[in-house]
Amino acid sequence: MAVFSFNDLVTNIKECVMTPDPQAAIQQYLEQLIRTPAPLLAASDQLSEAETLFHEDDDLSIWHCRFQPDTMLPPHEHLLPVLIACYSGEELSLLYRPGEIGLEQIGEISAAAGEVIALDKDAIHAVTAKGTQASEAIHVYLGPLMQLKRDLYDWDSGKAVDFTMEAFEAMKRPV
Ligand SMILES: [Fe+2]
Repeated sequence: MAVFSFNDLVTNIKECVMTPDPQAAIQQYLEQLIRTPAPLLAASDQLSEAETLFHEDDDLSIWHCRFQPDTMLPPHEHLLPVLIACYSGEELSLLYRPGEIGLEQIGEISAAAGEVIALDKDAIHAVTAKGTQASEAIHVYLGPLMQLKRDLYDWDSGKAVDFTMEAFEAMKRPV
């Protein structure tokens, strides 16, 4: 089995940023990476956290996300384009926009194992794993995610709340 390391992942994605169309280059790289998921699964077995940050600079934030089918993460914005490359299970995003009375769901999109999806920088989504098993995915944001002042949205009122890890945890809800 080919050896995979998350350090290599960061190096390869940083190289994509140097190309004329970083998002397209990253998408192409991720599609090729998840075509052979076994080395990725072996490496991510070592990750104990649900969400792991590997790298952040002004151009790029790279995370590993493992979501459980019994928990929905609260609606939130990124203010950056994001690529979601799923390699195990299926990651489901419910898409919203702020409406007259709270949030309006405007659709959903999922990334099944082997798929890379893109969300634009204005997207608001709540996320979970579809089906019965956890989802495992690489998330690549085209900018410095943790440096941005961004919002979560209250499930009931739809009101924006400052994004903090505490609020994010507190607003998770069972599916
Ligand atoms: Fe997100």
